[in-house]
Amino acid sequence: MRRSGKHEGVGEEKLIDNKIDKFLKRLSCAAITIASLTLLFLFLRTPDTCVPRRAPAKPHLRFPKSTCDFTTRLHVPAEKRNLRIRSTRLWKVKVHSFSILFRDLPLLHNHSHVLCISAGAGHEVDALHRLGVDEVTGVEILESPPLVGRADPHNLPFFDGSFDLAFTARFDEALFPVRFAAEMERVVKSGGACFVLVAECGDQEVREVVGLFRNSKLVRSSNVSLTGTRMTGILMRTSDNSS
Ligand SMILES: *[C@@H]1O[C@H](CO)[C@@H](O)[C@H](O)[C@H]1NC(C)=O
Ligand SMILES: *[C@@H]1O[C@H](CO)[C@@H](O)[C@H](O)[C@H]1NC(C)=O
Repeated sequence: MRRSGKHEGVGEEKLIDNKIDKFLKRLSCAAITIASLTLLFLFLRTPDTCVPRRAPAKPHLRFPKSTCDFTTRLHVPAEKRNLRIRSTRLWKVKVHSFSILFRDLPLLHNHSHVLCISAGAGHEVDALHRLGVDEVTGVEILESPPLVGRADPHNLPFFDGSFDLAFTARFDEALFPVRFAAEMERVVKSGGACFVLVAECGDQEVREVVGLFRNSKLVRSSNVSLTGTRMTGILMRTSDNSS
């Protein structure tokens, strides 16, 4: 009796185990089904907020109603946008202004490798290209492809003596002029040139600027007009022995 009772008990336990197993399996099946249906529902359901219902008739007169409204902010790649900017009259005027500045610059030749630092959108790079200078590199804190790459003027990513001439039209906006000048001199070959534009100034200020370039001597300075802004161009030659 005891034995059979025991057996009965074991049998009952197994039966209960089986039932629990079945229940759990059903439960997980149900859970999977519900999850799948929910996903399917979310997938098929188009959100009303983020989809433009139809193309607006006059896109230029329509302003975004929310951050989700992207119909008026069609993405234009930077290069394409810059190409558009480069076909404007303002761009051409400024490039022409730079062309005059570079046209008869001593120490600049067609075969020169030129670096334009803090080149903004790249007017000077475009001007040098048009003048027939072979290799022109433009850098700025914020890149502006394809003319201008990204680089910090205080920490230029170029080897020593990589260029024949380094130019900047924004020397007087430098945060650390001594560091800026040292970097310009470093990336220029010995016997190369540093050419900077500053707000129009007299001889005393020119001497002060040249003094920041520890390894260079003044070649010439001249007052120029850059699209109407009076500026002084200071051309320096770096010493032949880079010591
Ligand atoms: C430099 O290149 C320009 C344009 O290609 C050309 O007109 C000019 O004669 C060249 N100058 C020299 C010195 O080779
Ligand atoms: C440039 O302009 C400044 C101030 O306007 C003047 O003092 C200086 O003599 C001029 N320099 C040259 C080389 O003409």
